[in-house]
This record gives sequence, structure tokens and C-alpha cells, in this order.
Amino acid sequence: QADVFTFDPGFTSTASCESAITFIDGDKGELLHRGYPIDQLAAKSHYLEVCYLLLYGELPTAQQLEDFTNRVTNHTMLHEQMTHFFRGFRRDAHPMAIVCGVVGAMSAFYHDSTDVNDPWQREVASIRMIAKLPTITAWAYKYSVGQPFVYPDNTLDYASNFLRMCFAVPAEEYVVDPILARAMDRIFTLHADHEQNASTSTVRLAGSSGANPFACIAAGVACLWGPAHGGANEAALNMLREVGSVDRIPEFIARAKDKDDPFRLMGFGHRVYKNFDPRAKVMKESADEVLALLGVENNPTLQVAKELEKIALEDPYFVDRKLYPNVDFYSGIILDAMGFPTSMFTPIFALSRTVGWISQWKEMIADEKQKIGRPRQLYTGATHRDYINVENR
Ligand code: SDX
Repeated sequence: QADVFTFDPGFTSTASCESAITFIDGDKGELLHRGYPIDQLAAKSHYLEVCYLLLYGELPTAQQLEDFTNRVTNHTMLHEQMTHFFRGFRRDAHPMAIVCGVVGAMSAFYHDSTDVNDPWQREVASIRMIAKLPTITAWAYKYSVGQPFVYPDNTLDYASNFLRMCFAVPAEEYVVDPILARAMDRIFTLHADHEQNASTSTVRLAGSSGANPFACIAAGVACLWGPAHGGANEAALNMLREVGSVDRIPEFIARAKDKDDPFRLMGFGHRVYKNFDPRAKVMKESADEVLALLGVENNPTLQVAKELEKIALEDPYFVDRKLYPNVDFYSGIILDAMGFPTSMFTPIFALSRTVGWISQWKEMIADEKQKIGRPRQLYTGATHRDYINVENR
């Protein structure tokens, strides 16, 4: 049984909630899921096992993992009528728009798992979303490139199934590259949960009203889309491509420091980490490994990223502000090398984070003490005054 934190009674907090799922020490650059360090989970575990850990609090036995994997695998298909949702979008719709819409629409198809007061329905909704997000995300990609949907193949593991649904075409045989499958699974794991970030807080706030679980996760998808949050992985790769070569890095460093320039180094900085984001370390190692195995280790974007990181970490502006690479700085380089367009980076983040959102939502809903979220404000507007008729204004 894990040792449990006991807070000092004098602990004063601006915390929005209590949670036992993920712990971050921003100064030390530490991230624990149910007590287990992220670097150990990324190296030794895999995404569905981490899903089990986040959902139920303990690492599963072999039998528990097999049962959980089978339950998820048996829910990978979407209701066939949901294909019409995809076709209702313009071809050039951002895949995040499609994912956000289709996830919310799940509440119109899976009525038997929308009652938040029924623990069994909460459980079914959770499994359905973990199982179906890869299908929804892959089909959003297929729709954007004008290719037919590829249905799940339940003989494959979670990451391989997703890759096949993204990259297989009916006209050719597709064999999943185990290197890519391992890299994909590691990216899922590194993004699984992250305490009370903006999108998780959005899911909790939506859930506090009693909204159905699919609507709550759709709200999380919407919040994650922003470039200051999950959209940063797409923005970071676009930035690295714009830099283009090592000799242009000083120009962008200068822009990032210029208060009159809205430009920021995308994939740098964090609300909590004032040290290295531990996920960025693993992602950087994974980028080296995957690109070398794919024979693209001299990828100019990776070289620019490494040199930019080196220069920034020696620059007083970034050092004084404790700005380090975050999870989004290297992830796009790997996803790009795997063949994904930048528009798919944030949907893959959303797919990965679904289990974190659901785990936190379930934890909140199960807490009988929880009430509807109702943040207050510091009012800075006009004081009381009487109405003036238009002729007197
Ligand atoms: C994620 O919360 C989570 O856990 C999120 C996440 C998760 O897993 O859910 O970790 C995922 O969202 C990671 C962050 C992805 N976003 C980006 O990479 C976008 C680029 N980064 C920034 O926009 C910024 O760093 C934020 C939004 C992440 C944090 O913004 P803050 O809170 O304003 O940063 P700060 O308070 O630490 O800033 C301190 C100073 C400020 O300058 P001064 O006013 O002191 O002069 O640092 C500056 C900022 O202007 N600064 C940057 C910068 N980030 C902060 N300057 C240049 N480039 C940057 N990236």
C-alpha cells in the first residue's frame, strides 16, 4: 500500500481541489502518477497499463491488465451512424474541430453511459472514451486527407491499432513498424495526465455541474486546443521550421525576449515547472532514438531544436525566468518523423490526455463532498449608478 501524503495542517493552499492521482514538484522537475515517476513508467510500462494505474490507483496484476485491455479493445468501434458527423465538416476543418465535435456527440449515441450518478455507467463511459478516441482521432485525420476510414483491428495493441487506422489504405498491405508503435505508445504515456492543468480544470468544472462525461471531455478537448496549452506542440514545430537553420536562432531568441513582440519560444516555459519538464527529457531521448532508427537523425529540425535549447539555457533571460523546454518542445519532431502533419499533433495530445481527464473527472464525481465549481472574481468595474435615458446621454 502506498505511503499517503499528509499535509501539514498549516498548509495554506490556493489549490482548486484535492487529488491523489498526479503529483508535480515544479522546482525539482518531478512528475509522479500515483507515486510512480514518469521516467520509470515511460521506460518500463505502457499506455494501457498507465491508464489502469491512473484510473484505479495501483499497477495491475497480469490478469487485471488482460481484463482491462480486453474491455478497452472491445469498445474500439464507433456507432456506424457517427461517420456522418465527420462528413458534415469541410475537408479543410482542423482535426481538433472534428474531435471536439464527435466526442461531444458521443452523448447522443451512448445514452446508457451518461448517468453520472451511476458508478457502472461512469465506468462504461470511461472505457468507451479511452477505446474510441484513437478511432475518432484517426478518422479525423483520414477525413482531412480524403482517404477512406480504416476500421480498428482488435488483434493489434493500442498504439499499433491507432497507427494502422491513420496510415493504412485499402489498396495496400500495411504492417505496423514496431519502432513507431513503441514511440507512439511512449508519447501517449508522456501526455496521459498532468495534475490540474487548464484542460483538466475545465473538465472538472464542467463535471461539477453534473454534465454528462462525453460533454465534459469535449470541453477538455476545446481547452487543450489553445497554443498556450496543447496547441503548443503544433506551434513549436512550426516555429522550429520557421527558424530553419542554426544561424537564424539568435534572431528568434531576440524576438522571444522583446516585450513589444508577442512571439514566444513555443515549447518553452511552464506554469508549474521551474526546472526541466521531466517529460521533455524523455521526449528528447525518444526523438534521438526514433529519428536514428528511422535513419533521419540529421533531421535539420532536431538539430535546430537542440541548438536552440542549448543557447536558451545559457541566456540570462531564460535562466532568470526559469524557462526550460516542456513536453511540447520535442514531441512534434517525433510525430513529424512518424509521418503526421502538424495539425494532428494536438489531437494526439487530446487522445493521450483523455485518460487523465477521465480519471480526474471520476475522482471528483465520486467525492460526495464535491459541489458545483463557482470561481469568484475581483470586481474592477463601475460602482452602483442609476440609468440615464438616451436623450440625456
Ligand atoms: C502545456 O499546465 C500544464 O500542466 C500544461 C501541460 C500539460 O501537460 O497539461 O504541461 C501542457 O500546456 C505545456 C505548456 C505549452 N505552452 C507553450 O509551450 C507555449 C509557450 N510557453 C508560454 O506561453 C508560457 O511559458 C506558458 C503559457 C506555458 C506559461 O506562461 P506564463 O505563466 O506567463 O509563464 P511565466 O509566468 O512562467 O512567465 C515568466 C516570464 C514572463 O516574462 P516577464 O513578464 O517576467 O518579463 O517568462 C516569460 C513571460 O513573458 N515567458 C516566456 C516564455 N514563457 C514565459 N518568454 C519567452 N518564451 C516563452 N516560451
